Amino acid sequence: MVSKLSDSISGLAKELIHSRQHISPKRLIAPGPDASQYLEIMNAAGAAPDHGKITPWHFYEVSKESRHLLGDLFADDLIERDSGASPTQIEEARQKAFRGPLLLLATVKLNGESGDIPKQEKLISAGCAIQNVLLMANALGFGSGLSSGKTLYSQKMRILFSLEELEDPLCFITIGMIFTHKPNKQRPDARSYTSIF
Ligand SMILES: Cc1cc2nc3c(=O)[nH]c(=O)nc-3n(C[C@H](O)[C@H](O)[C@H](O)COP(=O)(O)O)c2cc1C
Repeated sequence: MVSKLSDSISGLAKELIHSRQHISPKRLIAPGPDASQYLEIMNAAGAAPDHGKITPWHFYEVSKESRHLLGDLFADDLIERDSGASPTQIEEARQKAFRGPLLLLATVKLNGESGDIPKQEKLISAGCAIQNVLLMANALGFGSGLSSGKTLYSQKMRILFSLEELEDPLCFITIGMIFTHKPNKQRPDARSYTSIF
């Protein structure tokens, strides 16, 4: 009985983990998670391994009302980096802020009263929290995609989100219904990244 149950749970876990794939934010449309699904997704982040229980990750939801602020930042930063950017490119940069019904900024806090916990561990915790978010979104029937880029790491971004001194942006996470997507890519063979010591 117990082994049957564990077989079906491991089958579900396998299906959940391997069916997750990056979906471009352009292909993620409304509806996004409702309030209870949002909570479910965020609670999944809280189950990440977390040495010292310090919760080094943070997720900022970019609200509908704030998207234009992020859009302006994407556009301004492109103009600053590339004075030859065309109006189309600038508009494309701005539109990135409006893709997908749920847009989150994930950060890691490398500060705090957790002097004993090395920053590598905090970064790993934050990465695990992000993966839990992606997997729970997948379990609830949503697609997800991570995005980054030069603007993400800019000082302007830190100011916009009022990040703390030792808080680093990691990536944006977009979640929504999958409009279209390309079929699953080949995953690396486990033998290519394992060996015996
Ligand atoms: C922190 C982080 C940021 C990423 N940023 C981007 C990005 O800006 N654009 C992009 O196409 N892929 C980005 N990726 C990669 C995709 O999320 C995805 O992992 C990759 O395309 C492989 O696809 P898969 O997740 O379906 O295996 C990022 C991945 C990570 C971990």
